[in-house]
Amino acid sequence: MWAFCMILVLAHCQLQGGEGAEAVSGIGVNWGAIASHPMDPPIVVNLLKDNGIKKVKLFDADSWTVSAFSGTDIEVMVGIPNDQLKELSKDQDNAEDWVKQNVSKHVHDGGVNIRYVSVGNEPFLKSYNGSFVGITFPAMENVQKAIDKAGLGDKIKVTTALNADVYESNSNKPSDGNFRKDIYGVMKQIVKFLDEKKSPFLVNIYPFLSLYQNEDFPEDYAFFEGHGKSTDDKNAHYTNMFDANLDTLVWSLKKIGHPNVSICVGEIGWPTDGDKNANDKNANRFYQGFLKKMASKKGTPLHPGPVNTYLFSLFDENMKSVAPGDFERHWGIFRYDGKPKFPIDFSGKGEDKMPIGAKGVRYQEHKWCVLKNNANKSALGGSLSYACAGGDCTSLCPGCSCGNLDASGNASYAFNQYFQINDQSVEACDFEGLATIVSKDPSKGDCYFPIAIISSGNILRVMQNVVGILIGFTLIFTTFM
Ligand SMILES: *[C@@H]1O[C@H](CO)[C@@H](O)[C@H](O)[C@H]1NC(C)=O
Ligand SMILES: *[C@@H]1O[C@H](CO)[C@@H](O)[C@H](O)[C@H]1NC(C)=O
Ligand SMILES: *[C@@H]1O[C@H](CO)[C@@H](O)[C@H](O)[C@H]1NC(C)=O
Ligand SMILES: *[C@@H]1O[C@H](CO)[C@@H](O)[C@H](O)[C@H]1NC(C)=O
Ligand SMILES: *[C@@H]1O[C@H](CO)[C@@H](O)[C@H](O)[C@H]1NC(C)=O
Repeated sequence: MWAFCMILVLAHCQLQGGEGAEAVSGIGVNWGAIASHPMDPPIVVNLLKDNGIKKVKLFDADSWTVSAFSGTDIEVMVGIPNDQLKELSKDQDNAEDWVKQNVSKHVHDGGVNIRYVSVGNEPFLKSYNGSFVGITFPAMENVQKAIDKAGLGDKIKVTTALNADVYESNSNKPSDGNFRKDIYGVMKQIVKFLDEKKSPFLVNIYPFLSLYQNEDFPEDYAFFEGHGKSTDDKNAHYTNMFDANLDTLVWSLKKIGHPNVSICVGEIGWPTDGDKNANDKNANRFYQGFLKKMASKKGTPLHPGPVNTYLFSLFDENMKSVAPGDFERHWGIFRYDGKPKFPIDFSGKGEDKMPIGAKGVRYQEHKWCVLKNNANKSALGGSLSYACAGGDCTSLCPGCSCGNLDASGNASYAFNQYFQINDQSVEACDFEGLATIVSKDPSKGDCYFPIAIISSGNILRVMQNVVGILIGFTLIFTTFM
């Protein structure tokens, strides 16, 4: 009965919602779900439709997510996580199983418009110490053969999402660009493969990271107004980092002997919290500039014309690793609950308007967990770090949205994050008696204290646990019969 209601709610959501203006053609979004309470797929599909977005890139092939696109004309790129590359590289049968279960099924049953499979995600990052260098290309080949065998080779292209660090230029001039020496051999195989199969080279380009990693990076060069620094290279004039970076790839492809491979930007975007340069204002500036540029179809000096692009990303993801930095959980154009954060005009006309938010999102109760008024503040240390380890404190950093809280505010923020991530469980708001549940919103200015949403992804996990316990009981019961 309860599950049936759930389905009604979802079906209802699917019926709602008018369409917004069309996004710039060739513009899609990345949708990752490394979150404690991921958004329900049917709600997200409607959000994309409402905002006129026609392309989506996923990081896996989760069945509920992919099937939510059935019957829509939205183009889907599914992903294969790096930890599955080994299996797929070893054995053609594994690749055939993967394609059958995660691709053919959806294409045939529901008519999901799957167009690409990204085999691996940034597998050649230096921080992986070469773990995926030997297996990525064999996995790509096996998946391609499996797709051909399933009769889908004309429609579905195989590629791999690469970070822009696979190529480099010692002088910072695009014309000195070339693929990294330590992976030159495998890059040559991959590029040849993409050329033959007419698959795109998928590259992730991050002006934000250049600014984050280098104190001396000229800020305006990360954006698109064309002020400040510029670079001249041969006959080309560069006024922004995106153009220079993409043309470094154009040169690298030319030098490796495959100048005609098409280029698609797999990820580009700007985070809104977790660093002094990560805020709504900069994200708005970046996206408006980028989308206007895309709408003009001018491209870059060496890559004139439109560039297919996936923006990064749709939602904030509060369970992502913060190894790259606190900003890593704040790449969403929309918040964790599908509410818009800043004006962005997907049509590229540069209008200062909010995008259409997610419809049909349900929240948990209107309550928060905070530090008690009379709590002994010198006893806080342990509780605070415990709450931050289990919750998400990436908005507390200096210059971040909650960076101006005092010590009590910090504790309340951390306690609430922990409480919400744990579905507002009463036990998650104790902290050795220092914490209490309140019904008055403790948010202050830019510092927002969230309420968790009701996420079926999360509820399904709870149900799986319940089923697990029931099976456990049954086993004990049978054993004793
Ligand atoms: C894809 O297919 C494999 C088996 O070939 C399966 O184990 C896996 O669960 C499927 N789903 C995803 C999301 O990878
Ligand atoms: C890569 O090597 C470094 C240094 O040896 C090590 O700290 C790190 O854990 C390694 N990473 C992976 C993914 O193996
Ligand atoms: C690239 O495409 C052009 C125009 O179609 C063609 O003339 C040229 O031979 C191609 N180059 C290579 C290396 O394939
Ligand atoms: C507050 O906590 C500190 C550290 O645990 C302790 O030393 C101190 O006695 C406490 N003060 C009161 C008034 O309870
Ligand atoms: C609040 O917490 C942040 C992050 O842990 C820390 O940098 C800041 O100094 C804290 N502020 C106070 C007043 O304790």
